[in-house]
Order: sequence, then structure tokens, then C-alpha cells
Amino acid sequence: MSFSRTIKIAPSILSADFANFGAECRAIEAQGADWVHVDVMDGHFVPNITFGPATCAAIRPHIKGVMDVHLMISPVDAYIDAFAAAGADVISAHLEAGPHIHRTLQAIRATGKKAGLAINPGTGIEAVSHLLDMVDLVCVMTVNPGFGGQKFIHSQIEKVRNLRAMIGDRPIHIEIDGGVTVETAPLVAAAGADVLVAGSAVFKGGSVENPAPYGANIAAIRAAAVKAQG
Ligand code: DX5
Ligand code: ZN
Repeated sequence: MSFSRTIKIAPSILSADFANFGAECRAIEAQGADWVHVDVMDGHFVPNITFGPATCAAIRPHIKGVMDVHLMISPVDAYIDAFAAAGADVISAHLEAGPHIHRTLQAIRATGKKAGLAINPGTGIEAVSHLLDMVDLVCVMTVNPGFGGQKFIHSQIEKVRNLRAMIGDRPIHIEIDGGVTVETAPLVAAAGADVLVAGSAVFKGGSVENPAPYGANIAAIRAAAVKAQG
């Protein structure tokens, strides 16, 4: 995983067919996905439940590129080794998930995986400034985590711009998660984001049997973002 600020589209398999994850991962990569975004939810940190490390391990052989695991769980630390062993390339934990995010990020880095720090819409970036030497990615949530298909929260764009200025020339990705569409992707790309997670906007209209719409959706989001990134 060499560092670059080129736009990367990361479809979230939260919007995939849960009975067919392997084929869905192969289909989105064949249709142009750069990363595969995997949303882990525990019914405690967020109101929804998805799946855990066993499912991540099962889908790993179906992903050629980056497996980007977004942990919406609390506590986090006891499960980091399991997600690393499951083959995650990036493991993101939420700043709000516990009192010791510094320790959590250290533990992720200790596995040899890239460390991501996710922040909810209500969280400011001041705390992030103290963690910049420990993270490879900051995930700015542009919806309240828990469900796909929610409306993009526009107040987060200014946060992305400020975060981009704070990061400077450090090799840290800015990832956007929630409500990314052809309309909102340019707004966050212009503000400094380079990884765009999209669930419903990628999977709409397509299926494993008919994956071409995945490719058209990915291409449209990418084109809009690249144009805005300049
Ligand atoms: C929300 C998840 C997102 C979600 C995005 O809690 O972290 O990754 O799947 O879905 P869309 O793109 O539909 O907003
Ligand atoms: Zn996510």
C-alpha cells in the first residue's frame, strides 16, 4: 500500500447481498473499486449489528486489493488481533469508542496494519491533532454511523477542509464515510478527501448477476471527485 492522494473509491459491503459477500467483493473489484470497505457493527457502539472477524476472514480471499475494516464497536482493543489475523489492511477505530484511543491506535500499529481513526459528525478535530503521528487514515463520518443510505451531513465539509490543512504533507489519508454520491463526492474531494466510501450509491441498480451498474456508479463518483480535486 504505497501512499497517494489519488481518489480511491471504497464500496461498503453493508449495501451488498449478505448471502453472497465473496461474489460481491469480486464483482466490485472487477468493476473498478480501489478498496473494499467492511463495516463491523456491534449493536452497542452503534444501534445495528453486522458481523465480526470470522466473516472478514471468510471474505478476505475474495479481495485482491485493500480490505478496509471500519470498527464501530466498543470496546475495541480485545478484538484488534482477531481483525488483523482476518487479513485487514486498514483497521479503523472510533475516537468515541472508549477513553484510550491512543492505546488503541498503538495496538493497531503493533499488528503491522495501517491505523485509522474514525470520528463521528459531532466530534471536532482538536483531539486528532494529538494523534497525527499514530494514524495512517482519518475517517470523517458524514452520517451518524450505524446504517447505510442516510443523508450526507453538509456541516462536515468544513471539518474536512480544516483536517486537510492540519495534516499538511503527512502521509495520512482522509476518508469520507456516509452519504457519498455523485453530488456530494466533489464537495469532499475539493475539501481534501482522497478515500470515498460509498454503499448505496455504488450498489444501486446492480447485482452479482448484473454487475455493470456497479462499474457505472463507481466511474461516475470517481469522475466527479477527480474533477473537483483539481
Ligand atoms: C455507516 C457505514 C457506512 C455506510 C455508508 O455506519 O460506516 O460505511 O455503509 O453507506 P452509504 O454510502 O449508503 O451512506
Ligand atoms: Zn464505514
